[in-house]
Amino acid sequence: MINKKIALVTGAKRGLGFATSEALAEMGYTVILVGRGKKEIEAQAEILKTKKLDVVGFYCDITKDSDVSKLKSFVAENFGKLDVLVNNAGVFNEVMGESSVFTTTAVVVKETFETNTLGTFRVMNALSDLLKKSNEAQVVNVSSGMGQLSEMNGAFPGYRLSKTAMNALTKIYAEEFGDTVKVNSICPGWVKTEMGGAGAERTIPEGIKGIVWAATLPANGPTGGFYRDGERLDW
Ligand SMILES: NC(=O)c1ccc[n+]([C@@H]2O[C@H](COP(=O)([O-])OP(=O)(O)OC[C@H]3O[C@@H](n4cnc5c(N)ncnc54)[C@H](OP(=O)(O)O)[C@@H]3O)[C@@H](O)[C@H]2O)c1
Repeated sequence: MINKKIALVTGAKRGLGFATSEALAEMGYTVILVGRGKKEIEAQAEILKTKKLDVVGFYCDITKDSDVSKLKSFVAENFGKLDVLVNNAGVFNEVMGESSVFTTTAVVVKETFETNTLGTFRVMNALSDLLKKSNEAQVVNVSSGMGQLSEMNGAFPGYRLSKTAMNALTKIYAEEFGDTVKVNSICPGWVKTEMGGAGAERTIPEGIKGIVWAATLPANGPTGGFYRDGERLDW
């Protein structure tokens, strides 16, 4: 068993996922950057390796069972455990200014669920035994205020529903893991990434603060909650 803490970040090729990977590696974690495009994810890992960070890139499309199964084998064979899992990979398949629940097709909702909700579910179940092998595992589900039922607005039904369901997964897993593995949802705020767009309010370093906070909670930290900037949100 490896003593160093092992973290895995999905959707690590760019945006919040890449920055979270870098931040955790700078804190001393060995980080597995997971993403689509074999060459691209390895190239992103190389950027961090040139900074003397302990990282590895691994190709995996989280919508594919066979890819996720290979990811599980890779982590099991190389590390034997997982201390931090950041379920960050996500898609936003609806158009700003044009989206309405009345015109969104079931196909768009289904495709968004396939990554944001079922992708998270698939990765969690594949890696759950490895998380249980850690003494203090943390799972961060990168959710969104757009999935908050108490603040639910119109438009973007695919994205909203997928994140509400992701939040439900947070509660379900937190209950079943009990004290062994902490599972929390976080909202990073509206961040300037490819998804958030140039008009977003927050920089990437601001956006990852809450993710890193939840990934590095102390042993007596919370589980089964929804947070932004370390502050509890209503569901
Ligand atoms: N930016 C915001 O304002 C904001 C606000 C709230 C929540 N979030 C959440 O934060 C997370 C990261 O978003 P971001 O803003 O950093 O967006 P981003 O720049 O678009 O990055 C999303 C990442 O997810 C990857 N991805 C998508 N589908 C995947 C799949 N099937 N398998 C593996 N990787 C996949 C993308 O890879 P490809 O290049 O291969 O597509 C990309 O690397 C998302 O879950 C998003 O919903 C963002």
